[in-house]
Amino acid sequence: MKFTAAFVLALAGSALAKNKTGSTSTKSQCKQIAKLTALVDLASNTTALEAKAKNNATKVENIQAKASDAVASLATLTTNSTLMDACAQIASVEAMDDACSSMAKFESLIALAANTTALDDKTKNNATKAASIVAKASSAATKLDALASNTTLTQYCAVQSSLSDCKSIEKLQKTIASASNTTALEAKFGSDTKKIASVQSKATKASTELAALSSNSTLLDICSSAGINVAAAAAAAASSTSSSTATASKTSGAMRTDAWSMGALSALFAAALSVYMI
Ligand SMILES: *[C@@H]1O[C@H](CO)[C@@H](O)[C@H](O)[C@H]1NC(C)=O
Ligand SMILES: *[C@@H]1O[C@H](CO)[C@@H](O)[C@H](O)[C@H]1NC(C)=O
Ligand SMILES: *[C@@H]1O[C@H](CO)[C@@H](O)[C@H](O)[C@H]1NC(C)=O
Ligand SMILES: *[C@@H]1O[C@H](CO)[C@@H](O)[C@H](O)[C@H]1NC(C)=O
Ligand SMILES: *[C@@H]1O[C@H](CO)[C@@H](O)[C@H](O)[C@H]1NC(C)=O
Ligand SMILES: *[C@@H]1O[C@H](CO)[C@@H](O)[C@H](O)[C@H]1NC(C)=O
Ligand SMILES: *[C@@H]1O[C@H](CO)[C@@H](O)[C@H](O)[C@H]1NC(C)=O
Ligand SMILES: *[C@@H]1O[C@H](CO)[C@@H](O)[C@H](O)[C@H]1NC(C)=O
Ligand SMILES: *[C@@H]1O[C@H](CO)[C@@H](O)[C@H](O)[C@H]1NC(C)=O
Repeated sequence: MKFTAAFVLALAGSALAKNKTGSTSTKSQCKQIAKLTALVDLASNTTALEAKAKNNATKVENIQAKASDAVASLATLTTNSTLMDACAQIASVEAMDDACSSMAKFESLIALAANTTALDDKTKNNATKAASIVAKASSAATKLDALASNTTLTQYCAVQSSLSDCKSIEKLQKTIASASNTTALEAKFGSDTKKIASVQSKATKASTELAALSSNSTLLDICSSAGINVAAAAAAAASSTSSSTATASKTSGAMRTDAWSMGALSALFAAALSVYMI
């Protein structure tokens, strides 16, 4: 499995974008650069400028004066190549995140259009509405194919989707753990049996979801590699029946990337992690 430079860069950018402690200032500087650039662009486009200022000459002058300051600030900021590289990576990650959610939306639209029962349900048997959804799904399929042909993108989305499932596992485990400690529950809710029952009922639902996710050993391997403790999930999987397998792909079904093998994903993930962990 080879990793394109863009992909590795994107993961680095992702780490950067998600680094809440250190890179807040980097991120805000990137936003600042985008804002200043938009201002300079506005001032240089007479049509847009006059529209924005509603043909008020004083407002036009104000914007032009601000744009002139912006040019100076930009000149300083853009000389920092570390910053510019970081901004490019962050922008690339944001674009890929957007593309991943577009693909997921296209896929559910296509699935809806292909499912007569769901379509009738959704449109309340209005054939006009149904036809319009089918038409939209057809154009979505073209867009989806274009996006899905980009393996850098599909690989990135697959990793994000797995990581998102790992986070779900972590959350479900916490929900279950919090309900299993009666001492803690009584300390928190006293004799409010209604609240305790509600926590326990949530935990029961969580167990079902956890069993479904945990039946996927590939996913568990990925989560472990990511440093997410899935021991409880693995134990649950070992003791649960195979009945949960069918729903395992529920939360990770966004990708139509069958060509993309599991071994490759593990390898990719190892590489992804090495980038995340620096
Ligand atoms: C986050 O940023 C801080 C400060 O720049 C840095 O020390 C730390 O290594 C970064 N963490 C990651 C995961 O990039
Ligand atoms: C200037 O702004 C107008 C209105 O927003 C836009 O239609 C046009 O494409 C812009 N021209 C350039 C050169 O960016
Ligand atoms: C033009 O804009 C200036 C500054 O915002 C404002 O004080 C003035 O009243 C505006 N003139 C007109 C004619 O709206
Ligand atoms: C360049 O930008 C980076 C990232 O924001 C920052 O850590 C560094 O201090 C900046 N360098 C200079 C010379 O301003
Ligand atoms: C079609 O949609 C219905 C209702 O939403 C759902 O129960 C069913 O599983 C779907 N069928 C397929 C093949 O996805
Ligand atoms: C079906 O949907 C169309 C488009 O939204 C609407 O104009 C029409 O009135 C609907 N027909 C019925 C019978 O509700
Ligand atoms: C594939 O997607 C990546 C990430 O969005 C992008 O940088 C790259 O230019 C795309 N490649 C092609 C051939 O469109
Ligand atoms: C249960 O909760 C109590 C109170 O929060 C805590 O002291 C105890 O260690 C917990 N027990 C387990 C098995 O986690
Ligand atoms: C198992 O998890 C992997 C990684 O998230 C995913 O690609 C795959 O589709 C899942 N398999 C099933 C059967 O859900």
